[in-house]
Amino acid sequence: MGEIIDGKKISSQIKEEVKSKIDELKSRGITAGLTAVLVGDHPPSQVYVGMKSKACQQVGINSEVLKFPQDTSEEKLLSLIDDLNKRSEVHGILVQLPLPPQIAEDKVIQRIDPRKDVDGFHPFNVGMMIAGEAVFLPCTPFGIQELLLRSGNDPSGQHVVILGRGNLVGRPLSVILSQKAPGGNATVTLCHSRTKNIGELAKEADILVAAMGKPLFVKRDMVKEGAVVIDVGVNRIDDPQAKKGYRLVGDVDFEGVKDITKAITPVPGGVGPMTVAMLLFNTLKAAKLQKEI
Ligand code: GUN
Repeated sequence: MGEIIDGKKISSQIKEEVKSKIDELKSRGITAGLTAVLVGDHPPSQVYVGMKSKACQQVGINSEVLKFPQDTSEEKLLSLIDDLNKRSEVHGILVQLPLPPQIAEDKVIQRIDPRKDVDGFHPFNVGMMIAGEAVFLPCTPFGIQELLLRSGNDPSGQHVVILGRGNLVGRPLSVILSQKAPGGNATVTLCHSRTKNIGELAKEADILVAAMGKPLFVKRDMVKEGAVVIDVGVNRIDDPQAKKGYRLVGDVDFEGVKDITKAITPVPGGVGPMTVAMLLFNTLKAAKLQKEI
C-alpha cells in the first residue's frame, strides 16, 4: 500500500516558514502585498483566488482581490496592470487564468513588471528559469518539486514521466526537474496528446506526474510497481449524491492505483495546497527583491 503524500501538511510547514520571514519584514516596517485579479465568472477560478487570498491573510501578507466582469476589455485590464506596476505597496501581481476570450493572455502576462510576476509566467522569468537562474518559478511545478523533496522522493537520477505539456505545469516542470541543480537531475520524458504508446512510457516512470486534465486517465496498468505518482488534475465530475452536485477527481484513478505505488498524492489535498504555498513564498521573495533585502 502506497504512502499518501500529505500536501496539506507539507504546505503548512512552508507557510510557517514564510510567515516567520514575513514577521521579520514587518519588524523592519515592510508588509508584503499581493494583488490578485479575477476576470469573469469561471467558478474554479473564484475558488482558487479565494484560497490564495485566505492563505495570504494566514501568513500576514496584505491581500487585495480585484474582480471584473466577464465582458471586461483587454485595454482596461492592461491599464489596470500599469497601475499595479506603479503601486509600491503591491509586491506581487497575480492575474488568474483562464481569461475571457476577448483578452489575449500573453499580452496581459507580458505587461506585468517581471519583478512582480509571482506566477513566474512572464517571458523574462521563463527565460531565467530555462537558463538555470530562476527568479520566480511557476507555483505548481515549484510546489511539485518541493513536495517530492520534502516527502523523501528526490528526483535526482530518477526517470520522471510527465503527462501533459501545458505552459502552467508540464512544460516548466520538465525544465525544473531536468536542471543540473539540487532538486533536479532527473531524466525527464514529456508526453502529450501526440505521444505514441503513452501507457508504455508511463509504466517506465520512477516518478509519474499526471497533468493533462483528463479525469481518471492513469489506470493501474500504466503504473510501475513502486512508482511515485503525482496527480495534478482537478476535474469536476457530476455526482448527484454530493452536496454541490459534483465531486473532484484527479487525472489518476487513485483507488485503482494506490496499492502498487511507493507513494501517491490525493486530490484534493496533494498538489493544490502546494501551489498556494509557493505563491506565498514567491510573494515574500518579490517584497524582498523590491526592497533590496
Ligand atoms: N490558473 C490555473 N493555475 C494557475 C496559476 O498557478 N496561476 C494563475 N494566475 N492562474 C492559474
